Amino acid sequence: VTDGQAHRADPTAIGLVGAGHMASGIAGRLAAGGRLVRVYDSDPESASTLAGAHTEVEAHPLEAVLAASIVILAIRYPGTLEFARDHADELAETVLVDISTPLDDTYEHLVLAPGTSGAEELAKVAPAARVVKAFNTNLAVTLPAANLDGIQLDTFVASDDPDAKAVVIAALAGSGLRALDAGRLANSRVLEAMAAFGIELGDRYGLGQAFGFKYLPSRPLTPAAS
Ligand SMILES: NC(=O)c1ccc[n+]([C@@H]2O[C@H](COP(=O)([O-])OP(=O)(O)OC[C@H]3O[C@@H](n4cnc5c(N)ncnc54)[C@H](OP(=O)(O)O)[C@@H]3O)[C@@H](O)[C@H]2O)c1
Repeated sequence: VTDGQAHRADPTAIGLVGAGHMASGIAGRLAAGGRLVRVYDSDPESASTLAGAHTEVEAHPLEAVLAASIVILAIRYPGTLEFARDHADELAETVLVDISTPLDDTYEHLVLAPGTSGAEELAKVAPAARVVKAFNTNLAVTLPAANLDGIQLDTFVASDDPDAKAVVIAALAGSGLRALDAGRLANSRVLEAMAAFGIELGDRYGLGQAFGFKYLPSRPLTPAAS
């Protein structure tokens, strides 16, 4: 848009970098919860197409997207690291959401050694950002419905910054996904392995990517006081 003033002035708008498969699904869920989304893609046409699908989503220049207090990186690893290095200053203090599952070209193996994760590598190159892991166990094809076989899908939210994690969980209220506190950022190692394992099972059972994860019980859960 040429007139982005309304969104720029709205501190609750969420920034989305990338307008591909996951961005489309996430934008739809956030829009369902009434959140405003500013999207940027290196291909302006992709961003415009995504913006055209939801009244709550607008295509903006990168500068306006990075001005949001929550920025979701809907791009692939290791492009996430390159992006964070290039924009380290703008991302300082930003709640930066990593959704990556760092898979190799075959989509069968994680490219990182077991002792780290895409989210932790992102935190290393963007130490001033408040890195949060979310959405990576959700498959893009499942996000438009947010449930599978009538069961609401979970999304697992992990971070070493409890306030940043709470901000992301709150942003998902009304989205149709059940957001669960998945603990510290290092749990991203588990979340990334879960996604890779899900893809392996999906291939074995001919599901493709039409699968999801549910932590039982399925009722709304509240963290116990610690
Ligand atoms: N697909 C899934 O179901 C799924 C599930 C869980 C997690 N994930 C994770 O979600 C992330 C996105 O995956 P995806 O499947 O949505 O990928 P995708 O469809 O390829 O979308 C990525 C989009 O971001 C754009 N892009 C790349 N680098 C950019 C940059 N520096 N600035 C702005 N835009 C940029 C790409 O443009 P170009 O094509 O021109 O590069 C593309 O339009 C990945 O980290 C993936 O591991 C995916």
